[in-house]
Amino acid sequence: MLLHIPQVLTAEEVLHCRERLLAAEWTSGLVTAGNQGARVKNNRQLPEGSPVASELGDAILARLERHAMFISAALPACVYPPMFNRYEGGEQFGHHVDNAVRLLPGTGKQLRTDVSCTLFLTNPEEYDGGELLIEDTYGAQRVKLPAGDLVMYPSTSLHRVTPVTRGARLASFFWIQSMVRDDVQRALLFEMDTAIQRLNQSGADGEALVHLTGSYHNLLRMWAQT
Ligand code: NI
Repeated sequence: MLLHIPQVLTAEEVLHCRERLLAAEWTSGLVTAGNQGARVKNNRQLPEGSPVASELGDAILARLERHAMFISAALPACVYPPMFNRYEGGEQFGHHVDNAVRLLPGTGKQLRTDVSCTLFLTNPEEYDGGELLIEDTYGAQRVKLPAGDLVMYPSTSLHRVTPVTRGARLASFFWIQSMVRDDVQRALLFEMDTAIQRLNQSGADGEALVHLTGSYHNLLRMWAQT
């Protein structure tokens, strides 16, 4: 499931992120690329664990923890500390699939990447190119969102970032290990939860809602790995 989550950050928060990022030290994006990614990756990113990355990453995670749509769609068991990248002057990232397993910095623990996320920090009109092209079951999706918006998609997807030919594209990216690793099961739970929330707001039959909500939790119990 490819999902657009609008306004994860406010315009003010985006501005703060950008000011901090533009003053930071950047390094080659090859540092965290796997073998496959290294052949096609050409961008820059903040070093993992840099103070700016930690500060902004924590602020993004704090937002997401309280974001009902994000939680419902991702069902996160563990979220990788957000990283930050920057494309300009023709930089791009060719076709690849993200690494399946990542070491969580400083913990020795591993995270299975079930869901990939990109949080856009530059508005589309400020740069040319820099589209995130994601192959899904319905063909290639072109994603270029307003600053502050997030896209999440299955980490199994082939994807690339087209060359940025004008301006600079700043974004945060990270991965989620979900309680429900299967994308089809996770999408079904999200649709069901969304419908239950709407029924709750519309004053639907309370007794039927209790059963429907119970079914949601029993499906989650059947599929969740914690
Ligand atoms: Ni990727």
